[in-house]
Amino acid sequence: METLIQKYNVPGPRYTSYPTVPYWDTDFDYPHWEQTFKTAYHQNREQGLSLYLHLPFCESMCTFCGCHKRITKNHAVEHPYVQAVLKEWRLYCRLFDEKPLVRELHLGGGTPTFFSPKNLEDLINGIFSLAQKSSDCDLSFEGHPNNTTREHLQKLYDLGFRRVSFGVQDYSDRVQQAINRVQPYSNVARVTIWARDIGYTSVGHDIIFGLPLQGVEDVVDTIEKTRTLRPDRIAFYSYAHVPWIKGNGQRGFKDDDIPKDGEKKILYEIGKKLLELHGYVEIGMDHFALPSDALYAAFRSGTLHRNFMGYGTSQTKMLIGLGVSAIGDSWQAFAQNTKDLEDYHQLLEWDRLPVVKGHLLTPEDVAIRGYILDLMCRFQTTLTDSLPLSQQKEIVEALRPMEADGLLSIENDTVFVTESGRGFVRNICMAFDLRMKRRLPGTQLFSMTV
Ligand SMILES: C[S@@+](CC[C@H](N)C(=O)[O-])C[C@H]1O[C@@H](n2cnc3c(N)ncnc32)[C@H](O)[C@@H]1O
Repeated sequence: METLIQKYNVPGPRYTSYPTVPYWDTDFDYPHWEQTFKTAYHQNREQGLSLYLHLPFCESMCTFCGCHKRITKNHAVEHPYVQAVLKEWRLYCRLFDEKPLVRELHLGGGTPTFFSPKNLEDLINGIFSLAQKSSDCDLSFEGHPNNTTREHLQKLYDLGFRRVSFGVQDYSDRVQQAINRVQPYSNVARVTIWARDIGYTSVGHDIIFGLPLQGVEDVVDTIEKTRTLRPDRIAFYSYAHVPWIKGNGQRGFKDDDIPKDGEKKILYEIGKKLLELHGYVEIGMDHFALPSDALYAAFRSGTLHRNFMGYGTSQTKMLIGLGVSAIGDSWQAFAQNTKDLEDYHQLLEWDRLPVVKGHLLTPEDVAIRGYILDLMCRFQTTLTDSLPLSQQKEIVEALRPMEADGLLSIENDTVFVTESGRGFVRNICMAFDLRMKRRLPGTQLFSMTV
């Protein structure tokens, strides 16, 4: 195992999109993007849309966090931000000339529960005042166990939310101090019990392996405590150490405090074994679910999907991202909003969508994106003639050493990820990443794959 880890622990994308953001068009053509977006909407209008709403505020800085956030204790920011997101939504709805059908809506952050229940209600009601809500609309949010109140959970439930995920990360005091996120088990238990009591059908916990100062005993204890609360889904994330993106935010500890390659892999292996022992099934990269959860059924039936919001059951092809830094995806094109909060407000005041970056997918991108999605959601993919033979051969050649190492098998044109290859799925996807092969990054852009 040690040698495999040494061999495969390289910087690599997490593939929430293909092409990955550093490979997006440098000369982003906004009018063309808007046109493709409208066309894609009309082609998929019966299927409906997914909406991702990014709520960036947090009261304090968790020093491990890789997400886009703004730290403040000033809750006066809530109301203008809700108004800005609703304005952005109005600008999108103008592009569609009709009330779009919404199939899925997710509130991510930052910390959605930084917002008061009343402001969240205004936000959700504002969104649906301009849209049709499908009868099976899947609404979900991320809650911080320290500030999610029963009122938040009840209000969002009344608005139709049935899924919630809570950020747990690790229960050890030592690790919690290092990541500046002190939250006792009792807080997580309280919100989990409330959510169940209110009627949420899927409660998820996020835990992370590879955090600073985290040892085997901490992962064992965290999973032991987690299992007593029996969340329906568990995201067991690999700690992504990307200090060059987040500046000082992640520097609440020394590099030496972070478990090294082999140590980190052991944390994953032990965690995975324990989760499986307790009845959880690994349904995709970093994700486990109980067989009673909808995500497991989607995995079994081959309908699991993954986009910028993570794994889901929705089959919509269009995702609109609202809010600062949010990413949208029309299947043919990606678009990302400005990450600067002041610019976000300013662009909307000027009646402009705050999209500042994007990518129009080429036919090759669409084909490779399909293979990568298959690997991430089904642990297998079949090469087809949507890619020229020479490129298929290039991919197979890159896969051969991994086949020799037992991470995958290739039968005819189908690539199967083996049980031991599951922890290396990012490396396997990299064999398909023709854009990265053509232009290797000059500096480290991605976290390590192990
Ligand atoms: C966007 S965060 C929001 C969670 C919520 N605001 C909270 O704090 O409880 C969602 C999840 O991403 C995961 N995450 C954030 N930064 C990460 C990193 N650097 N590496 C791995 N996972 C990370 C955490 O597990 C976190 O719960």
